[in-house]
Amino acid sequence: MVAIYPGSFDPITNGHLDIIKRAAKLTNKLYVAVLNNSNKKGFIPIDQRVELIKNAVNEIENVEVIYFNGLLVELLKEIKIDCIIKGLRCALDYEYEAQMAHLNRDIYPNAETLFMMCSPRYSFLSSSAVREIYKFGGDIDKYVPKCVEEKIKKMEELL
Ligand code: COA
Repeated sequence: MVAIYPGSFDPITNGHLDIIKRAAKLTNKLYVAVLNNSNKKGFIPIDQRVELIKNAVNEIENVEVIYFNGLLVELLKEIKIDCIIKGLRCALDYEYEAQMAHLNRDIYPNAETLFMMCSPRYSFLSSSAVREIYKFGGDIDKYVPKCVEEKIKKMEELL
């Protein structure tokens, strides 16, 4: 199976990495795709988000990191993949993700979304929480890969 794990990854967290590692075990190839969420402002430049993910997943052989500017279903068509993997942190995520899954399949009937439950220790984590903790001087090392922690410290003015 080849699948795609999309997100805005602003930045990638250990919660995302947990899903990537588990999904990579279930798939022959997993694309981690950085896409724009038009409801979000975006803090870390896209090319740097991609680099951070590449760094974080460099030991997982069957993972490829890509960027796409457009609808997720257009990316599916372009790389000829039908399977989307999304992580669910809690019941609240389900409502939103179910809507997205239905919408994507309505636009492109081949699109199938598979859901994986996040590991409980990451069920409260989000990229914006990481940015906020850092912004107010909190410790983010247990929430993000080492490369992200180092990078964020260098790009303080963006947060
Ligand atoms: N661990 C930790 N945090 C997690 C997580 C996990 N396993 N899974 C999700 N999250 C966090 C994300 O970091 C994000 O945090 P934030 O709100 O602080 O940024 C939040 O949960 C929501 O994640 P998600 O629902 O995956 O949203 P996203 O913004 O990361 O990604 C896109 C959404 C980019 C996939 C979606 O907007 C998209 O497909 N865009 C392209 C346009 C399109 O096709 N739109 C749909 C049709 S209209």
